[in-house]
Amino acid sequence: MNEKQLIAEKAVDFIKDGMIVGLGTGSTAYWAITKIGELVRNGMNIKGVPTSINTEKLAQNLNIPLVNISEIKKIDITIDGADEFDENKNVIKGGGGALLREKIIASITNYYIIIADSSKKVEVLGNFPLPIEVTPFAHEITIYQLKQLGCSTNLRLENDKPFITDNKNFIVDCKFNRINKPEELANKLNSIPGVVEHGLFSNMADILVTVNNCGEISIIE
Ligand code: A5P
Repeated sequence: MNEKQLIAEKAVDFIKDGMIVGLGTGSTAYWAITKIGELVRNGMNIKGVPTSINTEKLAQNLNIPLVNISEIKKIDITIDGADEFDENKNVIKGGGGALLREKIIASITNYYIIIADSSKKVEVLGNFPLPIEVTPFAHEITIYQLKQLGCSTNLRLENDKPFITDNKNFIVDCKFNRINKPEELANKLNSIPGVVEHGLFSNMADILVTVNNCGEISIIE
């Protein structure tokens, strides 16, 4: 079993019958959703809340019952991936471009589980360019304001055109190299009007499931 599948299935063990479950996005969350599909086939009663259109399609293919986010106020458990994490469970997300829905879903989740293989671990966040969702309107100004925070910026492209998120925004990937104070940076990013949301998730994960140097599953609480 590969690392992603191993940690994803470990996280799925936390799901209990009757729960509303946030379904993450990406190649690690894929394994969790696949396992959840198996549990549903075997009779488990859960309802999923997808964090992206891709995940919604995957869940539908697996016959996982879904609930519309507008009909709920709380989610019992969410399992989602990460692009980078540190030992304090600070995380960079959004490599797949789904960070806005991911953060909204995380914000109403009682027990938020991040699953990240050992290659994602860093001492200090920032080597992975921080994805920032921005409004298409005046995005040039927003990019200028982001640069003032000391990063290099890259407007994400797809087929030579700006990548469009599920919410019809753009993504700017911002390379900071070292994010020494994630919360301070988060506050600065939140004060830029054109920033819809950013991929810094600090103080959000209840646990982070990864693999340690000995190749064993490790849970950071
Ligand atoms: C999606 O927008 C992301 O936040 C993903 O959760 C993150 O990029 C991790 O993806 P992988 O599991 O594919 O590495």
